[in-house]
Amino acid sequence: MTGSSFSPIAWDGDAITLIDQRRLPAEEVYFTCATWEDAALAIREMVVRGAPAIGITAAYGVVLAARAGVDLEAAIAGLAATRPTAVNLFWALDRMRACRAAGGDLDAEARAIQAEDRAMCEAMGAHGAPLLPPGTRILTHCNAGALATGGHGTALGVIRTAHAQGRIAGVYADETRPYLQGARLTAWELQRDGVPVTVLPDVAAGHLMQQGRIDAVIVGTDRVAANGDVANKIGTYTVAVLAHAHGIPFYVAGPTSTIDLETPTGAGIPIEQRTPLEVTHVGDRRLVPVGVPVENPAFDVTPARLVTALITEHGVIRPPFAEGLAAHVAAADDGRRSPAGS
Ligand code: MRU
Repeated sequence: MTGSSFSPIAWDGDAITLIDQRRLPAEEVYFTCATWEDAALAIREMVVRGAPAIGITAAYGVVLAARAGVDLEAAIAGLAATRPTAVNLFWALDRMRACRAAGGDLDAEARAIQAEDRAMCEAMGAHGAPLLPPGTRILTHCNAGALATGGHGTALGVIRTAHAQGRIAGVYADETRPYLQGARLTAWELQRDGVPVTVLPDVAAGHLMQQGRIDAVIVGTDRVAANGDVANKIGTYTVAVLAHAHGIPFYVAGPTSTIDLETPTGAGIPIEQRTPLEVTHVGDRRLVPVGVPVENPAFDVTPARLVTALITEHGVIRPPFAEGLAAHVAAADDGRRSPAGS
């Protein structure tokens, strides 16, 4: 089996049901969004997270807003104001707006966004797996898995497909301070799907590389600028620098919905700042002295020169990236049918 064994986002035509990612792995409980405000809250509070999953949830949020007869532009603005870095959110909202303008079926469009995302992840898996020779020990950062997408995952989609082809000897998951997406979510979903995974503290990655225990790195992304600079979870840049220093390939997997050709370089990507509480506390326990200021940027930018290759649903792009990125976006635009139901 190459697919993930669970569905992170379910839509029954009236409500969105999300696995509550705040509570994994201790509890597998579900969060229901019956209004667009619920969907916005779920994104803001990280019930659902990961760039494609945020976009899908927002698209269903627009359907809920339309059903409720509220001002759709106000709802779209509310959904857009939840998290700033992942461009998939704005891409999905633009697509829903265009669907409405064309008189299309919003419900069908949102379902299409989800189904297409899953298909894009499967395609990324097929394109990316051959980059990993049999026996690869691979490191990943954050969670770019089924939980973060319409299913299968981007970076973890490549790993899942490669594992099914017998290419993966083991996965190292950075714990991903401070929110612990690697320790909590990547470990949960890979264990559940039978992919061998070991969690390490973020600070141990360089040590394992120095010992020759990591053959490749693969991560997802929240936004790829036109020149190939890549925004992803805080700490990704550190991993990329380490991989470069050790001559280890550094791969980035993301669907074309993550490519932002309107942002020329990574310097233009907005970086979300999150609450200091994620750093000052672990659970209920305070670690940092009261009164000491804290920095908590949720993302960083890895310059294109540190990226070995980008993987999209249309194939593998090698540097220099600008031309390939534009071509993959054009191919996606050509392949996309007109808004559902129009
Ligand atoms: O803050 P998060 O958990 O939403 O950050 C998620 C990431 O950084 C992922 O790597 C990225 O969204 C790609 S998910 C396929």
